[in-house]
Amino acid sequence: MLHRNRMLLISALSGMACVLSSPSALPQASQGAQDVSGQQAFNNSCRTCHMVREGDNRLGPNLHKVVGRKAGSLPDYAFSSAMKEAGFVWDEEKLDRFIANPDEVVPGNNMKPYGGLSSSEDRKKIIAFLAQPR
Ligand code: HEC
Repeated sequence: MLHRNRMLLISALSGMACVLSSPSALPQASQGAQDVSGQQAFNNSCRTCHMVREGDNRLGPNLHKVVGRKAGSLPDYAFSSAMKEAGFVWDEEKLDRFIANPDEVVPGNNMKPYGGLSSSEDRKKIIAFLAQPR
């Protein structure tokens, strides 16, 4: 009898745990973007460290309006000196090369541990997503 009660308790508890953990399992709400696959590619490869919302720095700097922004120029993010001194403005071509192989474009940068994205298709999608007006 005791054993049976315990089994019931365990199944009740695991049911609760399931309910409690379910919100985080829900897909991201409010995509709002025209290019969902670009957003998905960004989410898969970059969102661990980057947001596209203005001022929202995480492990990496926010990428709000990064196309046309000077590299390493956000005042409220602690860039590596390599990035601060890169001395160029991000455009599609620079972003494409950087995402493929960060060290080739900004040697000594601090975008670690990011291995580079070899799929040019995915890079194109991500850059189009970053270039969207927001
Ligand atoms: C593991 C975390 C991480 C991932 C994943 C990552 N980044 Fe970064 N990123 C960083 C960090 C940290 C920096 C700052 C580098 C520095 O200061 O040298 C950075 C810098 C950048 C910059 C320079 C921004 C500026 O203001 O000059 C761009 C552009 C960028 N990342 C794009 C991307 C894109 C696009 C992806 C996805 C394909 C990506 N990153 C994935 C951590 C990451």
